[in-house]
Amino acid sequence: MSDRRNPFEDFDVSRVPSPCFVVDEVAVERNLKILNRVQKESGAKVLAALKAFSMWNLAPRVSKYLSGTCASGLHEARLGREEYGGEVHVFSAAYTETDLREILEIADHVVFNSFGQWQRFQPLLKAAKEVRPQLQFGLRINPQHSEGDVAIYDPCAPCSRLGIPLSQFEGQSLAGITGLHFHTLCEQGVEPLKRTLAAVEAQFGDVLHKMQWVNFGGGHHITRPDYHVDELIERVKTFSEKYNVQVFLEPGEAVAIHTGVLVSEVLDLTWNDMNLAILDTSATCHMPDTLEMPYRADILGAGLPEQYSHTYRLGGMTCLAGDVIGDYSFNQPLKVGERLVFDDMSHYTMVKTTTFNGINLPAIATWNSETDELRLVKQFGYDDFKSRLS
Ligand SMILES: Cc1ncc(COP(=O)(O)O)c(C=O)c1O
Repeated sequence: MSDRRNPFEDFDVSRVPSPCFVVDEVAVERNLKILNRVQKESGAKVLAALKAFSMWNLAPRVSKYLSGTCASGLHEARLGREEYGGEVHVFSAAYTETDLREILEIADHVVFNSFGQWQRFQPLLKAAKEVRPQLQFGLRINPQHSEGDVAIYDPCAPCSRLGIPLSQFEGQSLAGITGLHFHTLCEQGVEPLKRTLAAVEAQFGDVLHKMQWVNFGGGHHITRPDYHVDELIERVKTFSEKYNVQVFLEPGEAVAIHTGVLVSEVLDLTWNDMNLAILDTSATCHMPDTLEMPYRADILGAGLPEQYSHTYRLGGMTCLAGDVIGDYSFNQPLKVGERLVFDDMSHYTMVKTTTFNGINLPAIATWNSETDELRLVKQFGYDDFKSRLS
């Protein structure tokens, strides 16, 4: 990452059960303060995207710095309303009528992904607006401007179902729509945002002048040490002034990057053409993005294959042949019972875990790297596995 020292280098891993997500509340607060500065200096309202990090135990801290939450549907919206407070913004690729009815009772902004859904639900939306006049409705646009290299993370990839392309605005009424939303970035800096805004303005400029708010979505890696925060602030300001709109940003990762680890334990050491280690954590159950994205998770004190004397392929205890976290090298041979610490594991992990094979979910703990206070927030067991099935 950066020249910042990782506080988890000093964390005594024997203090938590294994596997366990441990989140440093000081690091979360550091990220929140940066986002709060963006909010204050640019005038944008910053919402925490719960899809990336919805550790609601830390909700009071998040609410202290941000304007609210953004949700992908009913359940996240409820969590935002119940635990976080502030504004609740919802976007879903499509709503069921049952979910939408409940969303309309708790959300501030509801964003639609098609003119079809926006029109089909009109009677419901009009009735909800009468009861709650503060309700705002928006449309997600697709500026068809790709900034990502990985297709599954690129909402502007050809034939994407996410967002409405300009051609579909032809002949449509915008009565009742007060804002536009776009989400096109993934772990990106200010330059891709600037290019995206240029594409949005070139295509949707006329519409923008009629709107009260524009949501720039997520994917802004604002809290990464090399992010140009001042440039973001300037760009938001010029955009809001030009169109006279309230800008919203809804970062997820930026709330949680470099804030937490996943502690795991070596269960067995075997050999098949190379050294193998089986851990009590699993790529497929506990860190699926290592397979989906895919990416390589860092382990504290470990290196690339062959970088140090002892290289192992690390895998999980499920039946999936591909439940492989990756190849890592260590200074010393691994030992059964040894703890390994995967770095940067707060975001898109806890929210994505599964109990495939009946594997237990990692416990969740908060740690304060300044006071060394540790709180084991949650442990899971058989009942959690069973309650998801019937
Ligand atoms: C609509 C929307 N908003 C916000 C986010 C949060 O993105 P990130 O966690 O990359 O900041 C996403 C992520 O997929 C998204 O789809």
